[in-house]
Amino acid sequence: MNFHPVRLGIISALREEQTGLIEIMQDVVTTTRGMRDYVSGRLWGIECVCVLSRIGKVAAAATTATLIEKFGVSHILFTGVAGAADSRLRVGDIVVARQLVQHDMNAEPLFPRYEIPLTGLSHFYSDQILSKQLLNAAEEFIRTDFHSAIADYDKQRFRLLQPLVYEGLIASGDEFIAHDEQLRKITDRLQDVLAVEMEGAAVAQVCFEFGIPFAIVRTISDSANEDSPVDFVQFLEKIAAHYAYSIVKRFIALHQSERALT
Ligand code: ADE
Repeated sequence: MNFHPVRLGIISALREEQTGLIEIMQDVVTTTRGMRDYVSGRLWGIECVCVLSRIGKVAAAATTATLIEKFGVSHILFTGVAGAADSRLRVGDIVVARQLVQHDMNAEPLFPRYEIPLTGLSHFYSDQILSKQLLNAAEEFIRTDFHSAIADYDKQRFRLLQPLVYEGLIASGDEFIAHDEQLRKITDRLQDVLAVEMEGAAVAQVCFEFGIPFAIVRTISDSANEDSPVDFVQFLEKIAAHYAYSIVKRFIALHQSERALT
């Protein structure tokens, strides 16, 4: 028997990265705090609090701290989009974070490059169990729901063939990466980075500091270079929203069934 009730905080930067979840929540209560709406309720049988952080590390850190301190969440899931930093990745692929780093943190010479001062750490690990569940949820989504969830027209428009799921390093910074040179500055030093975005490592740092398990999933929306999006907003609406909804649904189901066994 598991006696610790779960309250899952679900964060996305933008509305489209969380579409559909709030609409099907039950027993909904919305609380506004620090310019964000925290929507509490039940999703597929578990207590959840959904919130849009807005863009960037400060926005994500403030939202994460509020979810933990004010809303008492026990676990955090972040769902959103990212640019590909590894040339193997294609638009439509999925990355689950194993570790996260802030690529724009540099307090040299006081601390080594990328290290978050006074933590002794530059890379923060996501929770292994949650991340495994998220990885399984993403793989199930691609295997089972992908072909029906995404319209053929949109698959062709965004050239999505058979998306793949990766697990690895995500780098975050307060910068949208839209040029080869910008990306190279990051990957020259952080060679294992799979994807770049603007919030994940801030969520990771706050969760580490509060001892809250977390996991992060990102759909690749662009190649973090000049070719970048065809149409970013359309990608969010037509592709990323479907990914997020189905992956969260499958993640919660897996999380529930594994807890029932413990
Ligand atoms: N989120 C999605 N694409 C991104 C990019 N190219 N840079 C930073 N954040 C992103």
